[in-house]
Amino acid sequence: MKVDVLLGLQWGDEGKGKIVDVLAPKYDVVARFQGGPNAGHTLEFDGIKHVLHQIPSGIFRPKTKNIIGNGVVLDPIVFKTEIEKLSKYNLDVKSNLFISKKATLIIPTHRLLDQAYELAKGENKIGSTLKGIGPSYQDKIGRQGLRIGDILSSDFSGRFKKLTDIHFEILNKHNISFNWQELEKSFLDAVSFLKEFKLVDSEYFVNNELKKGSTILAEGAQGSLLDIDFGSYPFVTSSNTVTAGACTGLGVAPHHIGEVYGIFKAYSTRVGSGPFPTELLNEEGERLRKEGNEFGSTTGRPRRCGWIDLPSLKYSIMINGVTQLLMMKADVLSIFPEIKVCTHYELSNGKISEEIPYEVVNEKIKPVYSALKGWNIPLTGLSEKQMPPELLDYIFFLEQELAVPITLISTGPDRSQTIHRVSKIA
Ligand code: GDP
Ligand code: IMO
Ligand code: MG
Repeated sequence: MKVDVLLGLQWGDEGKGKIVDVLAPKYDVVARFQGGPNAGHTLEFDGIKHVLHQIPSGIFRPKTKNIIGNGVVLDPIVFKTEIEKLSKYNLDVKSNLFISKKATLIIPTHRLLDQAYELAKGENKIGSTLKGIGPSYQDKIGRQGLRIGDILSSDFSGRFKKLTDIHFEILNKHNISFNWQELEKSFLDAVSFLKEFKLVDSEYFVNNELKKGSTILAEGAQGSLLDIDFGSYPFVTSSNTVTAGACTGLGVAPHHIGEVYGIFKAYSTRVGSGPFPTELLNEEGERLRKEGNEFGSTTGRPRRCGWIDLPSLKYSIMINGVTQLLMMKADVLSIFPEIKVCTHYELSNGKISEEIPYEVVNEKIKPVYSALKGWNIPLTGLSEKQMPPELLDYIFFLEQELAVPITLISTGPDRSQTIHRVSKIA
């Protein structure tokens, strides 16, 4: 069997949580491979909305095993809160959730360092979620991090102290106030809680599942344009959010990767700083934000909104090897009589390009648009056959441009508001 990968092609918040939950019954295993509590994955069913940060989005499907892979950075405090929130739903989380011993621990000083570094950047701040992502990956790459498996070792408290001492030295140079006694206590409580879960050698676990013939879905966090290597550096997150990240974040060999589901909104959003060529800083942008309820699932910050951006989608499709496209939030575009699609970029030297320039952060990119007629009717509750012709035109236009079949259209936040389709270009 293969590992299918589902990941965001834009700047995150494409609707990954919803679709992983929709697809999970087809899979024996759902595995997160990177990121951490910066993610906010929303699932909706039976009139209830759930936001998951670190727990894979297959958790509500009783037959699905859920893995937090080695590529993830895990904050035990956030983890404890998340599990406690789930307690009223009668899920067998202690049996269905497996956590890699090789995943990196986020400790409270990582969050403080995140704050300190952002403050020091001033105007150039990344707009981080301040969950300690950058500093914890920094420690991992700097070979001084702590891992989940370390909490089981007898010298954990000594190693924890050693790392916090290093962090305090840096924090002393910044003006951050905190109550260490409180932070340490809630961390150590959460670490004890974490010990009650199945801490595993996840690379063996995943590969044994593959040998048994299990179906596995790898769930991405963030989006390809926030990737540490391929995103708009430095306005990115600190992990590889692309398909290759599923290999390193789970211990899966590249030839085991199967379908790559690339998920995108029918328009674009971004939260935090950094370039956004099609951003609408006008009333249309406001309307998108309002209609799409574009406020961060983790931080509640308003998301920046704009039209769809094909050069950047093509880039993400290329880097990820996307085999199927899933289009989200088509219903939100119902408010517009005309829909714009950015097909090219005009660069400051007048050149028209389909590529993202290296100097994307400093370059003044002007989007070149094609306009399509909007459908202007609500989509919620419609079946594939009832889809308005203008929506079909939009889908065909995107498929022709992107050269990948669009096999799913989402028309609302609920599980049921999902149309699976067979593409003519499949
Ligand atoms: P993720 O981080 O990729 O899982 O996405 P988020 O959960 O952060 O953001 C997606 C938001 O859009 C959530 O509030 C979802 O409930 C909502 N959503 C998902 N699909 C649709 C859709 O097709 N239509 C509408 N209107 N909302 C959707
Ligand atoms: P999901 O999985 C949208 C953004 C932050 C910031 C940058 C760096 O829900 O799609 P970090 O906290 O990683 O230091 O922030 O990345 N960011 C996200 N934006 N969705 C996310 O996750 C994000 N995770 C991080 O806003 O610009
Ligand atoms: Mg999100």
